[in-house]
Amino acid sequence: SDRIQNEAYNDLRPGVANLPDKEIIAQYDTIFVGSPCWWHQPAMVVCTFLEAYDLKDKVVIPFFTYGATTYLNESMQKIYKVTPESKHLPETLPEDLNPDDITTPGPPDDAGIDMPGGANGTEAWLRRIGIIK
Ligand SMILES: Cc1cc2nc3c(=O)[nH]c(=O)nc-3n(C[C@H](O)[C@H](O)[C@H](O)COP(=O)(O)O)c2cc1C
Repeated sequence: SDRIQNEAYNDLRPGVANLPDKEIIAQYDTIFVGSPCWWHQPAMVVCTFLEAYDLKDKVVIPFFTYGATTYLNESMQKIYKVTPESKHLPETLPEDLNPDDITTPGPPDDAGIDMPGGANGTEAWLRRIGIIK
């Protein structure tokens, strides 16, 4: 827990063993990025992964597992920040009302962030975001 908090709060990039080759990632147009929410942020190793590739114009769709919904916006914002040249689904996020502070929940700003909410919810989520017609 301490290690993960240190990585999250200090915006560190832990190494990733066996990153897929760039040519493999290049074949995909849409990339679903799943992560736990750890200390109010994505697993920082997911940021290491995302920054290792040219994701320009690819569609990045983040989703999270989490214990509470209070940090979903912060976590989503982070994925969007580290993939600045990608398109995203949803295209925009609710305004982060406390962007300079990831350590406290701040004013509620997570309403409307849509997550699968569990394996049983995945199909309905894919329909809501328009991946399954
Ligand atoms: C070190 C640590 C930090 C966590 N921080 C948060 C958090 O900030 N917000 C939250 O909603 N859940 C938090 N959780 C709960 C995890 O998000 C949850 O356990 C995880 O998403 C469930 O997936 P898993 O079964 O693969 O661990 C944390 C869990 C751990 C172990």
